[in-house]
Amino acid sequence: MANLSGKVALVTGSTDGVGRMVASRLAEAGVEVIVHGRDAGRGRDVVAEIEAGGGQAHFIAADLSDLARVRALAEAVGRRTPRLDLLVNNAGIGSGGPGGKRQTNAAGQELRFAVNYLAGFALTTELLPTLKASAPVRIVNVSSAGQQEIDFDDVMLTRGYSGGRAYMQSKLAQILFTFDLAGRLEGTGVTVNCLHPASYMPTTMVREAGVKPWSTIEQGGEAILNLAISPALEGRSGLYFDGHKEARANAQAYDRAARAKLRALSLDLAGLSAKAE
Ligand SMILES: NC(=O)c1ccc[n+]([C@@H]2O[C@H](COP(=O)([O-])OP(=O)(O)OC[C@H]3O[C@@H](n4cnc5c(N)ncnc54)[C@H](OP(=O)(O)O)[C@@H]3O)[C@@H](O)[C@H]2O)c1
Repeated sequence: MANLSGKVALVTGSTDGVGRMVASRLAEAGVEVIVHGRDAGRGRDVVAEIEAGGGQAHFIAADLSDLARVRALAEAVGRRTPRLDLLVNNAGIGSGGPGGKRQTNAAGQELRFAVNYLAGFALTTELLPTLKASAPVRIVNVSSAGQQEIDFDDVMLTRGYSGGRAYMQSKLAQILFTFDLAGRLEGTGVTVNCLHPASYMPTTMVREAGVKPWSTIEQGGEAILNLAISPALEGRSGLYFDGHKEARANAQAYDRAARAKLRALSLDLAGLSAKAE
């Protein structure tokens, strides 16, 4: 891997699973990594492991189900570093929940939509001034091949709920967001791409869903690192990858009207309408 000394990256959900592997690999390449998750103990372990290997890392805790904590995370990142060269929106929850019951955050928003999509949308929006000032910069949204159309009449899935549907809707929302943001960031030097890292890696969320793993964490991690740092992707934006290959996402991601609708809804839900250009 190239020497990336002097670069700073934030990897959300890097206390576990594929995010943890990506954080370690970036740190090995010289990147100063901001490790994020909810659990301070796991955060400390990841930072200690990176430091033991000669790397630089800091942990910031934030529960992304709470938009006030998302804002606090953006502020804490701002206090920690004046620049950010890479943002990987990776944190997420899978399709398995307690008893398959619909879950919400404290604000009553459907939990997978809130954590997997809305938090990354809000965090990125809050960090955009820093990201633009640090260009060239990359944003990577870790989505999935499991995608289901957003039902704009019932985004919070009050009818016909299943954990799988909630997960897949949130993952497609990340892709609509990626394509929309790429258009708005044209000419700024900030690129944004998204991907399905690998199918059923042996991580906590896959274990919780009771699925037998098919691929390795290394496979998914390498695919994320490809979008994050590969020289071949310099200047390329608005792409969806399946592993290492550019691919087509669900048709709704190519519907400009759906993207605009999701953006307006998300700004409203996140209380960020005043930040829209
Ligand atoms: N595993 C797969 O096969 C697979 C396939 C396709 C896509 N993906 C995507 O890859 C990404 C990483 O998944 P993974 O399999 O590595 O998952 P994982 O092992 O379950 O790790 C999830 C990470 O997200 C964090 N997180 C979860 N809920 C959070 C919340 N409310 N607030 C803040 N952080 C939270 C966790 O932090 P804590 O330490 O606080 O729990 C952890 O660091 C996800 O976006 C997932 O959708 C995974």
